[in-house]
Amino acid sequence: MVRNNLLDNAPIGVFDSGLGGLTVLNSLQKKLPGESFLYFGDTAHVPYGTRSRETVIRYSTEITRFLVEKRVKLIVIACNTASAIALESLQAMFPVPIIGVVEPIVEKAMMDYQSGAVGIIGTRATISSKAYYHAFKKRSSTLEIVEKACPLFVPIIEEGWGDTPVAQQVAEIYLSAFEGIQLDSLVLGCTHYPMISGTLSRILPKSVRLLSSGEAVAEHVETFLDDHDLRGSGNHVYENYFVTDFPQQFDSIGSRFLERDLPNIEQVNIFS
Ligand code: DGL
Repeated sequence: MVRNNLLDNAPIGVFDSGLGGLTVLNSLQKKLPGESFLYFGDTAHVPYGTRSRETVIRYSTEITRFLVEKRVKLIVIACNTASAIALESLQAMFPVPIIGVVEPIVEKAMMDYQSGAVGIIGTRATISSKAYYHAFKKRSSTLEIVEKACPLFVPIIEEGWGDTPVAQQVAEIYLSAFEGIQLDSLVLGCTHYPMISGTLSRILPKSVRLLSSGEAVAEHVETFLDDHDLRGSGNHVYENYFVTDFPQQFDSIGSRFLERDLPNIEQVNIFS
């Protein structure tokens, strides 16, 4: 295949409802140091997890249009809620390849699956979309799947309380949904949940694997780039950040998710 260097070195677009998707960007950058990235966080509209389908699709469409106009070679929807609800509509509307987080996590969960049920936690919108449920059932119709929406985790994590007794107490209440069920793995179906994984693993039996979006999607994107001969050359790698608002605590929340100081960020208004 003739390599198209212009396309290979185009950036990868990553978007999220806010700053939580920086956990996914972080994994992508670690796995793919030769790639440039454009990150878009819709900080004016976060959270998506409590919004209607129509609204999540509308916001995601505008963001995708923005990234396509920036000539990205691939879009990763870091947001679980937007992946669960908007992926198919976006794929039908735009010519650029778009990868959501649901399929990569489900693929990974099934690859290493041993026995027992699979648990899924996420925002209310993600859980009620049943996107994870259907993605698992497509692969194994007999698999036991137990889902639980955990809406309080996002504000607790944004407050920096993911590893406190408050988080522990709330997590115990949510995870009681899995009591008496032999879990093989628990899907952390939300950008924020890796920040509470220490608390979750203290409550769950040691044998339960916690699966988060970042790692799974980074592996998936790497394979996709290789399969389509789209790997960046590693020359002149850059990262640009766009947000729709600078809310309170922006820097402290963002740097916790990215695990380093936030670089320069541009505020844009793309919504009419
Ligand atoms: N990014 C969202 C997700 O992964 C969590 C925050 C929100 O509700 O927007 O589902």
